[in-house]
Amino acid sequence: MTRQQAVDFAAARLVQVCDNPRLDAQLLVCHACDIEHAVLFAHPEIPLSRSEESLFRSCCSSRLLGTPLAHISGKKEFWSLEFIVNEHVLIPRPETELLVETALQCIAEKKVVKILDLGTGCGAIAVAIAKERRDCTVVAADISTPALKVARMNAKRHGIDILFIHSDWYENLGRHQFDVIVSNPPYIAEKDPELDAHVAQFEPALALISGESGLEALERIIGKASRYLAPGGHIVLEHGFRQGQQTRRLLQQHGFEQVRTCQDLAGQDRVSCAHLGAGQAQRSP
Ligand SMILES: C[S@@+](CC[C@H](N)C(=O)[O-])C[C@H]1O[C@@H](n2cnc3c(N)ncnc32)[C@H](O)[C@@H]1O
Repeated sequence: MTRQQAVDFAAARLVQVCDNPRLDAQLLVCHACDIEHAVLFAHPEIPLSRSEESLFRSCCSSRLLGTPLAHISGKKEFWSLEFIVNEHVLIPRPETELLVETALQCIAEKKVVKILDLGTGCGAIAVAIAKERRDCTVVAADISTPALKVARMNAKRHGIDILFIHSDWYENLGRHQFDVIVSNPPYIAEKDPELDAHVAQFEPALALISGESGLEALERIIGKASRYLAPGGHIVLEHGFRQGQQTRRLLQQHGFEQVRTCQDLAGQDRVSCAHLGAGQAQRSP
C-alpha cells in the first residue's frame, strides 16, 4: 500500500466520523510514517513499510471509533507551537488563541509583567504567552497532577521557564500578586445536552464541566481575583458563547472596570476581559 492509497483508504472510511476525512486521513498517514505533511505531498507513491502499515491500520480503527486525532498522534498545534497532549488534558482549541491575543494586547505597553494562568491544562496558554513575552514571569496552576506533568513537559520542550503550582484555583498561590490573570476554565453545565458525546468520552470532565450552571469556575475565579491582582491588573477569561453577558455581570459586580467581550472567528462571544481599578485591589491572604 502506497502513502496515497493509505490516504484514500482512510478518507473513504472516515467520512462517517469526521468533517474533513481527507485531512484526517493525511494526518494519520503522516503520523504512521513519521513524516511531515509536505513530505507526504512530495512523495505519495512511496509504499508503507510493514510496521508503518500496521500502525496506520490501528490508528485508522481508533479514529473510526471517535478517538481524537490529537490523542492518536499525542500532539496538537496551538499558536503555531506543537504541544504534547494526552487523556489528562483538554486538547487546546483554536478559539483559545483569542484569549492569548487579548492577554498580549493587555500587556503590550507594560514592561516586566507577572502573569497567572489558572487551569493551565497542557500549558498551551502559559507557554504561548511566555514565548511571545520573554520578559514576563509566568505562573501556571492546575488542580490536576497529571495535567501539570504534561504542562511541565511542554514548557521544557519549548525552552520556557514557568512556575507550575498544584492548586485548587488560588488556594496554593500564597502571597503572589499578578499583573494579569488568564484562564480558560471549565464552563459547560453538568447536564448540557449540547455537550458533544465524543468530547465527553475522550477529554477529562474536570476540564469541561463546571457545576449545574457551567459558571461555577468563572464565579470562583472572578470572586477572588482582586486579592491576587496588582492595582490596575487585568483579567482575561474564556467562556461559552452564551456566557458573555453573565461573565461581564460577574466582573462588574466584583469591581472590575472597562469590562468587554471579544468575539471569536465565528462571531461568537468567547473571551471577556477587564481591569481592576486602583482602589479595588486587595492584599492576598
Ligand atoms: C478548559 S481546560 C483548559 C486547559 C488549557 N488552559 C487550555 O486552554 O487548553 C480547564 C482546566 O482547568 C483545570 N481545573 C478544573 N478545576 C480546577 C480547579 N478547581 N483548580 C484549578 N484548575 C482546575 C482542569 O484540570 C483543566 O486543565
